[in-house]
Amino acid sequence: MSNLEMSTKHLLGIKYITKEDIDLIFQTADNFKEVINRPIKKVPSLRDITVANLFFENSTRTRISFELAEKRLSADTVNFSAASSSLKKGETLLDTVNNILSMKVDMIVMRHPAPGAHAFLSKHVDVNIINAGDGTHEHPTQALLDAFSMREKLGDLKGKKVVIVGDILHSRVALSNIFCLKKLGAEVMVCGPPTLIPKHIQELGVELSYNINEALEWCDIANVLRIQLERQNIKYIPSLREYSMYYGIRKSMLDNLKKDILIMHPGPINRGVELSSDVADSEQSIILDQVENGVAVRMAVLYLLAGKRNLAKN
Ligand code: CP
Repeated sequence: MSNLEMSTKHLLGIKYITKEDIDLIFQTADNFKEVINRPIKKVPSLRDITVANLFFENSTRTRISFELAEKRLSADTVNFSAASSSLKKGETLLDTVNNILSMKVDMIVMRHPAPGAHAFLSKHVDVNIINAGDGTHEHPTQALLDAFSMREKLGDLKGKKVVIVGDILHSRVALSNIFCLKKLGAEVMVCGPPTLIPKHIQELGVELSYNINEALEWCDIANVLRIQLERQNIKYIPSLREYSMYYGIRKSMLDNLKKDILIMHPGPINRGVELSSDVADSEQSIILDQVENGVAVRMAVLYLLAGKRNLAKN
């Protein structure tokens, strides 16, 4: 049985919310998914609420998905892009945000390269903050839409086996997925080259394999990550070609399994590196379902947190 409201005012990370919060987000997202498949996709739930989307890092899916979610809920939206802002003139994050808030903004969706930027901000401003990715730390709405998509295909995730493959070291998607899936009772494994697996990862209660075929045999679902070359200031792998030889997933590897597993990827995909095109576009791939579900899940998060708008900070 779920609570009727979120336990927190912000979504800073999956680490800081409860299983009941996740269940509530999923139930709410189920309803919104039904709404956005109607001919009239809009509801008035966030009318008179203004949301600022602050993106200090590049994004395609998350940014468009949040903006669509806000529009479907009838919120007013403003978009900020770091590249064309006065950050270039030396303004601090807090000054930038306080200036935006003085224009009567109610909620902030933010992507920032610094881990903890959202937690810092939440201590200094009095609006709801939703983390759309903070450096290598967390990407909570990605984990929620991933788990929602798994649940849509396989039902209750308790006991389901999920392997997260690739650059675990630099991945905020990996950490948020681990927290989310463990809270939902799934079994989680990480798989990748030793240099891209954090040293103490098993303390989070996950299994570890360096062998992709063994990991694929074990799992019901493989959530495959991108190699984040932009966050690697030293060489963690000899080359993308070698990475692809040892950890890339090809159709023949799926065909050799005794079962059909689901293939997921948060995007953007490096075709031919972590997934071959025939895997990315196969019937087993639910990559575009993930993107579709992102809008309903983000509508649910915005809607539920808007309900906590006037409560004291927590
Ligand atoms: N999955 C994801 O965060 O994609 P974007 O970087 O395009 O937002």
